[in-house]
Amino acid sequence: MVRENEIRQNEVAVSAPEPMDAHLCYIGRISTPWTSRLMTPRQGRHDGPVCTIEIFEPWVAGLQGIEKFERLEVLYWLDQSRRDLVLQSPASSGKVHGTFSLRSPVRPNPIGTSIVLLEKVEGNKLFVRGMDCLDGTPLLDIKPDRTLFKPIAPPQPGDFETGPKGHCEKA
Ligand SMILES: C[S@@+](CC[C@H](N)C(=O)[O-])C[C@H]1O[C@@H](n2cnc3c(N)ncnc32)[C@H](O)[C@@H]1O
Repeated sequence: MVRENEIRQNEVAVSAPEPMDAHLCYIGRISTPWTSRLMTPRQGRHDGPVCTIEIFEPWVAGLQGIEKFERLEVLYWLDQSRRDLVLQSPASSGKVHGTFSLRSPVRPNPIGTSIVLLEKVEGNKLFVRGMDCLDGTPLLDIKPDRTLFKPIAPPQPGDFETGPKGHCEKA
């Protein structure tokens, strides 16, 4: 079952603290064919419909070079999500899972990410396949798919550091 904003059997909502302002700004808008969460894919498909990502000024110059990448990672703000559930029942079955073990849109900071196929760039618009958000969803960021990207800046010491297996410790 797709969630609108209901709470289901055995789900747990918390009293979330007031959001601290991370000074995020919406840098664009994503246009998709979906106007209802009941119809939107749960995860985008690379053979799905072409969607448009529009970048707002003053960020348009930041698209320079993006056409070199076949795949992009898109981060967006799932703006219609509730943000207070810690246990969720995706199948509405009464069986619950911790929010951080899910890719549900319902999370304290409702950031969605998708790897999309870049079809073409026209001015301030990217045409992509693989989105799974509602029409009009605000855009937070775009990066090249990490598997296609080689750092341009020179390496630094941490790039070569390894540690004992199994845990990560502060020095
Ligand atoms: C399961 S999330 C996955 C998002 C992203 N691919 C991820 O893994 O981070 C996709 C679902 O979020 C919901 N959704 C899409 N756009 C939304 C929006 N703007 N606000 C709230 N929910 C949205 C829809 O139900 C859609 O099926």
